[in-house]
Amino acid sequence: MKKTIIIGIAFWLAGLSPAFGADNWPVPEEYNVMDNPVEFNNQNVRAGRDIYDKNCKSCHGDPGNYNALPLVPPPPDAASEIMQANSDGQLYYKITIGRGAMPQFETTLGSDDIWRAITYIRRFDPRNEGKLVEEALRKGKIYALVGNYNSTIDIVAEEELTDNNIPLSNTTIFVRAKKTFGNLLVGSITTDENGRASYAIPQDMKVKSDGQVDFILSLNDDFETVTFSVSGVQVKQPDSNVELPRVLWSTNDRTQIWLLFTYFAALIGGWTVIGYVILQIYKLFRLGRNNKP
Ligand code: HEC
Repeated sequence: MKKTIIIGIAFWLAGLSPAFGADNWPVPEEYNVMDNPVEFNNQNVRAGRDIYDKNCKSCHGDPGNYNALPLVPPPPDAASEIMQANSDGQLYYKITIGRGAMPQFETTLGSDDIWRAITYIRRFDPRNEGKLVEEALRKGKIYALVGNYNSTIDIVAEEELTDNNIPLSNTTIFVRAKKTFGNLLVGSITTDENGRASYAIPQDMKVKSDGQVDFILSLNDDFETVTFSVSGVQVKQPDSNVELPRVLWSTNDRTQIWLLFTYFAALIGGWTVIGYVILQIYKLFRLGRNNKP
């Protein structure tokens, strides 16, 4: 009888579990055969990448790096088998409708952009290997200066061609802040038709006690790696309270009253006990002396 119940429960659990897995996401029949109207080429893949980076990367991570957010159920990596097992239409349906933590993008992105994002996801489909024409990386250059009152970083970007340099217009410049452990992306800005951009330094930035930040500017991976550093930008006033008390009792003015109170209570209590013990020993000693024969 007991055995039957256990086996019964096991079957029940086994039956339930696919409902929690990402692999059981039913898609209406008509989507299964839908084809991606966006052509699979470098330009569309690039456009799709921009859409993906802005809307999907925060949860799904960098394709192929399996660094998605640890949600339940997990957002599958764009290069994973789970993702690539979907047909184009199935991807379209899931992205449009969403489920649980997966947002529905029907209104946020138009259908064109959803298809472009799918084109980018398909770039990691092993069946598409070698289908994109290898493009030579472009050569970019960045120059930058700190603007008025240390509130902006004024940027000029150029593309190096064989015989001259031209302004790099309409191009994203990534702004990172140098941290002890790697660089943190703090923002991005797109250059105008003259290859210029003025990045407003966020006022709520976390800074070290000296108020300075080292910024690193870079281009996307259509370009050969190029960075430009703007070091020691005084983003905030240096903190005057740098000398934080290392010893708890060195400055009482920062100490909580209840902590001081507890401390003194413990101090007085401790000495009272010690005093009492000494007194008792003294009494014993006197007793001993008085009772000497
Ligand atoms: C807020 C986090 C979040 C964002 C942003 C997000 N996703 Fe998701 N995504 C998820 C989660 C969580 C799942 C798993 C949902 C499930 O299985 O119930 C998922 C599932 C998916 C699936 C289904 C995979 C499968 O077959 O099981 C696709 C396709 C997908 N996401 C694509 C995208 C695309 C494209 C974008 C950007 C346009 C995006 N997601 C943005 C969290 C997110």
